[in-house]
Amino acid sequence: MFGNINNCHNTKDFRRLAKRKLPSPIFHYIDGAADDEVTYRRNTEAYEQCDLIPNVLAGVENIDMSTTVMGKKIDMPLYLAPTALQRLFHYDGEKAVGKAAEKFGTMFGISSLATASIEEISDLIKTPKLFQLYVHKDKGLNKSMIDRCKNSNFDALALTVDTIVGGNRERDLYTGFTSPPRLTLKSLFSFAMHPNWAFNYFTHPRFELSQLKDFFGEGTNISVSVSDYFTKLIDQSMDWKAAEEINKHWGKQFALKGIMSVADAKKAVDIGATAIMVSNHGGRQLDGSRSPFDQLSEIVDAVGDKIDVICEGGIRRGTHVLKALSLGAKACSGGRFYLYALAAGGQKGVEKALLNLQTEIKRDMQLMGVTKVDQLSRTNIKFR
Ligand code: LAC
Repeated sequence: MFGNINNCHNTKDFRRLAKRKLPSPIFHYIDGAADDEVTYRRNTEAYEQCDLIPNVLAGVENIDMSTTVMGKKIDMPLYLAPTALQRLFHYDGEKAVGKAAEKFGTMFGISSLATASIEEISDLIKTPKLFQLYVHKDKGLNKSMIDRCKNSNFDALALTVDTIVGGNRERDLYTGFTSPPRLTLKSLFSFAMHPNWAFNYFTHPRFELSQLKDFFGEGTNISVSVSDYFTKLIDQSMDWKAAEEINKHWGKQFALKGIMSVADAKKAVDIGATAIMVSNHGGRQLDGSRSPFDQLSEIVDAVGDKIDVICEGGIRRGTHVLKALSLGAKACSGGRFYLYALAAGGQKGVEKALLNLQTEIKRDMQLMGVTKVDQLSRTNIKFR
């Protein structure tokens, strides 16, 4: 009964199915977060500590849930945040995710640590795409990724600013998760327990980090944990000046991903960014950090009229999206909600996850008495 994506009606169902389908180190890499995972839990709980106040008799037969973010109109106010290593979760990886996003007319992003190339994704996906840039110590690599995105007409660049060193992901320490997976007795046992996954992993084109493989072996040929990867290869000297220069070199829609303070949100405006993702990297970096939703109002009040504010993290329900929009977010984005679905059923799985959330958002808007997302406001939300 639970083995079928058609029986997955929410993120919890997809999570359960992903757990069954994936070798445990891979599942826990997706599912896990930093230290005691307090921030990870809070990211979702925060939405549950305030309530929506509906209006009725509003004539809600036609619902338009589109929004415009970073200059692009998207058909639903939730998009697929860039995440790494997707071919470990399903052999179609980013291509499956991009195709599903395209079908629902929403944006999706690929990571610097993607397992498909910028060019492949650009050829395949015609709807809005963003590229998540990690600034590496290797300056040639940074330039190469930005230039490839320019040549391939990516719509937006999101510079990630919350991974200056690796977070303390203890689940990965216990399971020994690395990219590529290290073949130890323990991991071979875990593969043997998941023969479908193992068959697909070993019979499809070889796993690689497509943007990085020509610059160094880590992640593609040399097994490394993601936390060690960040600490070893990311440029810890990155500062506001560097971010401004990247923006100038890029010259198109530019976001800072991982902004949490009002002061930094204002600096993002000063350097000419067009968006910020209020995010703590899914609780995977600084445990004890505040949740994006808790921090949203202050940031919207400070910069919401100058820049697109995106609420990223913890989204599991349509009502979570409506709550963030009510506080003034332009859109929401998330990772795990579609990664579980990718692991559970490839492109079809991601489509089902998007259908579930699209259906919820539509129903919730109707129940709230709004026909367009900009009708949501702080008058329809109350903190306890
Ligand atoms: C993570 C990075 C790669 O594991 O986004 O959180």
